[in-house]
Amino acid sequence: MSEKNRSKKHLNLQKAYNLSSPEDNINFYRGWAEDYDADFALGMDYILPYQVASQFIKLKGSGPVLDIGAGTGLLGIEIQKLSKFEIHATDISEEMLLVAEKKGIYSKIIVGDLTKGLPIKDNSYNGIVSSGTFTHGHVGPEVLFEIKRILSKGGVAVLSVNSKHWHSLGFDATLQTLEASGSKTNVTEVNIYGQKCKSDSKNDTAYLLILSD
Ligand SMILES: C[S@@+](CC[C@H](N)C(=O)[O-])C[C@H]1O[C@@H](n2cnc3c(N)ncnc32)[C@H](O)[C@@H]1O
Repeated sequence: MSEKNRSKKHLNLQKAYNLSSPEDNINFYRGWAEDYDADFALGMDYILPYQVASQFIKLKGSGPVLDIGAGTGLLGIEIQKLSKFEIHATDISEEMLLVAEKKGIYSKIIVGDLTKGLPIKDNSYNGIVSSGTFTHGHVGPEVLFEIKRILSKGGVAVLSVNSKHWHSLGFDATLQTLEASGSKTNVTEVNIYGQKCKSDSKNDTAYLLILSD
């Protein structure tokens, strides 16, 4: 890989981390949607969708499943490789979802802003998964209440949260509030990128937050 291509990936990751509002996200991902898989996922050896999917299957998660911040559908693909659930996708970016839709894995696509509340009824999904959406410049711990609202009783959510983002936005405090209202939580740490990643971010980790009741 040329030095020029490597720094392009790094630049896009830095730009994504520096976003500061839902509108910024819409505009940024509109321009990245078509290149995201080749430029970022392949180029960075991005294994986080696989990490989330395998944890969800290990916990015997069941469908219907909602992929939160589904983007171009990389997590849906990993879930479908491991099990045949009915799976839906939601994201703030219509353009990212258009790329996902073409892959034919999601039976429903919902454009929505997590921070404003999703157009989804309470207790709708037995499984909720997310990779790469709880990170710098994207969404924070306040969104966990919205996820809890749409998760069915007895359901399980597996959500990746960038480790540095976790500490800088104080996810621990929100977990305490969720636990006080009866939720169970568990956390495990995983690598975001695989061994082929050559970027400075290659050793970055995410926490997989497991949320149930
Ligand atoms: C780094 S991408 C991850 C996409 C995919 N899950 C993956 O692992 O490749 C982050 C996604 O979060 C979405 N996003 C950012 N802010 C959002 C919000 N407020 N509501 C819903 N989705 C949001 C972006 O549009 C983008 O598709």
